[in-house]
Amino acid sequence: MNRFENHTVLVTGGSSGIGLAAAKAYAREGARVVITGRDEKALADARAQLGSGTIALRNDAGSVEEAGRLAASLREQDIRLDAIFINAGVARFAPLSDVPESLWDDTFNANVKGPYFQIQALADLLRPGAAIVINGSINAHIGMPNSSVYAASKAALISLAKTLSAELLPRGARVNVVSPGPIATPLYGKLGMDPATQAATAAAIQGQIPLGRFGTAEELASTVLHLSAKESAFIVGSEIIVDGGMSNL
Ligand SMILES: NC(=O)c1ccc[n+]([C@@H]2O[C@H](COP(=O)([O-])OP(=O)(O)OC[C@H]3O[C@@H](n4cnc5c(N)ncnc54)[C@H](OP(=O)(O)O)[C@@H]3O)[C@@H](O)[C@H]2O)c1
Repeated sequence: MNRFENHTVLVTGGSSGIGLAAAKAYAREGARVVITGRDEKALADARAQLGSGTIALRNDAGSVEEAGRLAASLREQDIRLDAIFINAGVARFAPLSDVPESLWDDTFNANVKGPYFQIQALADLLRPGAAIVINGSINAHIGMPNSSVYAASKAALISLAKTLSAELLPRGARVNVVSPGPIATPLYGKLGMDPATQAATAAAIQGQIPLGRFGTAEELASTVLHLSAKESAFIVGSEIIVDGGMSNL
């Protein structure tokens, strides 16, 4: 399929995991892809995989100032957007008693405040009929111990899909959420666990997934592309949960 021919798509956090898989899927279907991230090397590696037409921008999704810079950089290059995948995010877990204020601030900056102001800054660059897909999480819907700050940040983000859909619809843009369950990505290696704890945690999580396995980044990407394409034009302000049955069964 070539659903994104002549389209330009922005993927925040497009240098790894779900974002990189989505960027590859958009590119395979004809899109010019813009990716962001903070790590220059990861961005360069991703661009090498995505092809020379890809634009890779170093940009911190947790900074309001950088949200403005991202929009200015795209405007300077005369880029207009047909889809945005608001995907960059951080996951840090700790029990209530051990959560420092910095964990709250870092999580809400990267997962809620930054994305909100990115959408504000980028709204004028959207083409009519554009789609915004937000990466939520099933943690917003389940009471998993140690996930309180992360879960609350994703619940706030999911809420934005409804209100921003209502506000952006007059511009011809719609906003939806894809909420993943456990997906095998490099994220789990960034939680600061030693290898044995990481393996035990993965096994414990896997035991809670009715399908008996982690999802793949490619499975997530296919839902992201569905929500970005014309075929989903009647889906507005909604959430699709992709979690192997974890939150429903
Ligand atoms: N994997 C899962 O099981 C799972 C489940 C539910 C939801 N999610 C959500 O899916 C999204 C992607 O996660 P993933 O599993 O694909 O993780 P990942 O492999 O660690 O990728 C995260 C991406 O986001 C970027 N990023 C993180 N913080 C950023 C910031 N402040 N500014 C710009 N870019 C930033 C990272 O690049 P840099 O670090 O170089 O900036 C990287 O490209 C996150 O929002 C996460 O909450 C994941």
